[in-house]
Amino acid sequence: MPPFIKRTHTCGQLRASDIGSVVTLNGWVDVRRDLGGVIFIDMRDRYGKTQVVFYPQHNAAAHAAAKLLRSEFVVSVTGTVERRPEGTTNPELATGEIDLRAAELTILSEAEPPPFPLNDDTEAGEDLRLKYRFLDLRRPVLQRSLMLRHRMYLITHDYFDRLGFIEIETPVLMKSTPEGARDYLVPSRLHPGKFYALPQSPQTYKQILMVAGFDRYVQIVKCFRDEDLRADRQPEFTQIDVEMSFVREEDVQEVAEGLMARFFKEIKGIDITLPLPRLTYREAMERYGSDKPDTRFGLTFTCVNEIVKESPFRVFADVVKKGGAVAGFVVPGAASFTRNQMDALVDYTRNLGAGGLVYIKWTENGLETAVEKFLGRERVEQIAASMGASKGDLLLLVADVWKKAYTVLGTLRLEMGRRLNLIDDNRYELLWVTEFPMFEYSEEEKRFVAMHHPFTAPHPEDLAILDADPGSARARAYDLVLNGNEIAGGSIRIHERAMQQRVFSLLGIGAEEAQVKFGFLLDAFRYGAPPHGGIAFGFDRMAMILTGMKSIREVMAFPKTASAVSLMDDAPGPVDDKQLRELHIRIV
Ligand code: AMO
Repeated sequence: MPPFIKRTHTCGQLRASDIGSVVTLNGWVDVRRDLGGVIFIDMRDRYGKTQVVFYPQHNAAAHAAAKLLRSEFVVSVTGTVERRPEGTTNPELATGEIDLRAAELTILSEAEPPPFPLNDDTEAGEDLRLKYRFLDLRRPVLQRSLMLRHRMYLITHDYFDRLGFIEIETPVLMKSTPEGARDYLVPSRLHPGKFYALPQSPQTYKQILMVAGFDRYVQIVKCFRDEDLRADRQPEFTQIDVEMSFVREEDVQEVAEGLMARFFKEIKGIDITLPLPRLTYREAMERYGSDKPDTRFGLTFTCVNEIVKESPFRVFADVVKKGGAVAGFVVPGAASFTRNQMDALVDYTRNLGAGGLVYIKWTENGLETAVEKFLGRERVEQIAASMGASKGDLLLLVADVWKKAYTVLGTLRLEMGRRLNLIDDNRYELLWVTEFPMFEYSEEEKRFVAMHHPFTAPHPEDLAILDADPGSARARAYDLVLNGNEIAGGSIRIHERAMQQRVFSLLGIGAEEAQVKFGFLLDAFRYGAPPHGGIAFGFDRMAMILTGMKSIREVMAFPKTASAVSLMDDAPGPVDDKQLRELHIRIV
């Protein structure tokens, strides 16, 4: 039997009030300092650190054993809590007033030297950290991040429970659906050639639960999407999934806002002001160039179509004639950008897919722009006035089809915001983006695809144009945005069979295919479906922002790399021929 010694306290617990007590601590050796006679170790567990002192004169055996200690050994120390000698207290450490004078030391487990230092500001590369995740997770920063995540689970469960929601688990093995991202598939042993899919979200199940009369559903649930990964995307991630019956947009949003208020209050100590601001998709695009605008800073856009539409400058006039946008924003104080800086900015904008970038500088000599000869002095002045510019400013303008123009401006805006240090990391700006388009035309698939998902209800005012002009129809969909991150998305759903069939058909899903893929939902709608709607929060993204991390990998215990690999256990891995045979699969 390996030795086991029960601790009396954690490594973060002892205070001056414990001086004189005999205690036992268990933990890891953080560092050992051998000062000739006296040996110090910092003992660490997830609660904190305590300094332990071994004096040769007090206990020769423990002192001799302490000489063997190395970082990451697991030890148990029994001793007496003492006040640290004057001048050696550490106000940075919760236990900094005391030392533990060791009387007994038991080495519970030895450790090889770790491949990288386990401190918060380790410079080890992420791949190395992920390979040795069991060591990486010992770093206080990651321990704090997972403990904060735990508090978020508790707040979530308590918040929804108080509002009468019930948590219901939905299957992880389900049927593949054709919308959204790529599915992860699981072959069926019992049904050769057939596959389960892992849920991209429990969307259809939660709607079925509404039909079943559960009226307020919540679930903290894993979702799986085989898509390109980024700092805020993982192949498996967690949602707080919510669905409600007999609701309109405002009802779902109010519930979501209440959850946000609790997260901010209980985790950050911040009172957020409710209701949160709302922007329609169109407003968000035309003001910030993004459907998830970072509203922590200005640099908002002005459309100058009216000023330039009659101008001889064809680049602008033609865009306006074709229904596009000529718009831009003012960068305060940036008239001093050099010629080289401006050339780089023009290249940057071209790389974003725009035809070009027109700029006007307001220098000591007044308004200066290369396009004055095409636009005319008066129009240049009108543009500067309408955009609210003043001396010393730089005006950036892009002309293109509506979406491209604003998307490019949106990226430029973020870039300028970062370069000019306009983004305050200590600020939190939440807002709703509403009235998303129903459909988006996919050039790749040459058809309309659902902007949210195919179960989202169309805006009642746009029912008439649904068939004739699907690209312009608005949906009853909304996203919650925090500091430029989409942290939740939801909608009011279709609850009528005929409307659902109509939307499927607009998406190019024929009656037969709809029956095969979604027959259960269409059938359910025959038997009394309540109007319903819901939302799902990206749990990892919220945890990332609330911990101040730059990647959701830092708030997940065992994340995957950008190429969807788990470096610690080497998933995905090969399987036996026997397993493949049983699954009726041959690798080609
Ligand atoms: P949606 O697809 O918008 O909606 O997802 C909801 C939220 O989940 C987060 N999210 C992700 N987080 C990490 N990694 C990913 N790969 C990832 N993909 C999405 C985002 C997003 O806002 N069923 C609908 C919800 C509904 O209509 O109720 C859905 O899944 O923060």
